Amino acid sequence: MLREASLGLARTFDTVSVVARHADALAASSGINPLSLDYSDSAALTRALRQAVETHGPVSLAVCWIHSTAPGALGLVAQELARPGEPARLFHVRGSAAADPSRLPRPGLDAVPEPVQYREVILGFIVEGERSRWLTNSEISSGVLRAVASDAARSIIGTVEPWHMRP
Ligand SMILES: NC(=O)c1ccc[n+]([C@@H]2O[C@H](COP(=O)([O-])OP(=O)(O)OC[C@H]3O[C@@H](n4cnc5c(N)ncnc54)[C@H](OP(=O)(O)O)[C@@H]3O)[C@@H](O)[C@H]2O)c1
Repeated sequence: MLREASLGLARTFDTVSVVARHADALAASSGINPLSLDYSDSAALTRALRQAVETHGPVSLAVCWIHSTAPGALGLVAQELARPGEPARLFHVRGSAAADPSRLPRPGLDAVPEPVQYREVILGFIVEGERSRWLTNSEISSGVLRAVASDAARSIIGTVEPWHMRP
């Protein structure tokens, strides 16, 4: 769902690395640096991020959509972003399928290291008259790019209100 967002970032930033189990497919035509791994493998994720920093320099922006099957991955990314004197922004994309995201507690980031600025992007839904629907991948990607551009602490793509109108 973040394919278009990844490609959009690749048009703006010198280097964009993408973590996915099959990242090569995205990288083939786009100049994206693929990090093909399972993010629930902490050692592999750490190794790949460090290698990317060694090759391309410090990461200034991370956009993370991480399933709950890897509860430690977000914190690990935050740790790897943290480099003294190198400000970095961490955009955490959060779904709204399970609970009202405007009431979600902050995720398992025990402490976001000092140079890292946490940003939240909540995936809402679209109300159309008396009905509602979930966001399309395209709406999610363009919403994430808008959130990055606005740099707000919290962005909501679509709406989460009224919550009882969710699909
Ligand atoms: N409002 C909302 O809350 C809302 C709206 C729309 C959609 N959604 C949700 O968004 C999701 C749609 O996402 P999607 O279709 O893009 O699929 P996805 O399963 O969430 O995968 C997203 C990306 O993450 C990668 N990925 C998944 N598991 C991984 C792992 N263990 N390690 C590394 N990379 C991993 C996938 O690539 P690989 O498969 O190559 O690893 C893919 O590039 C659905 O779950 C849908 O319910 C929510």
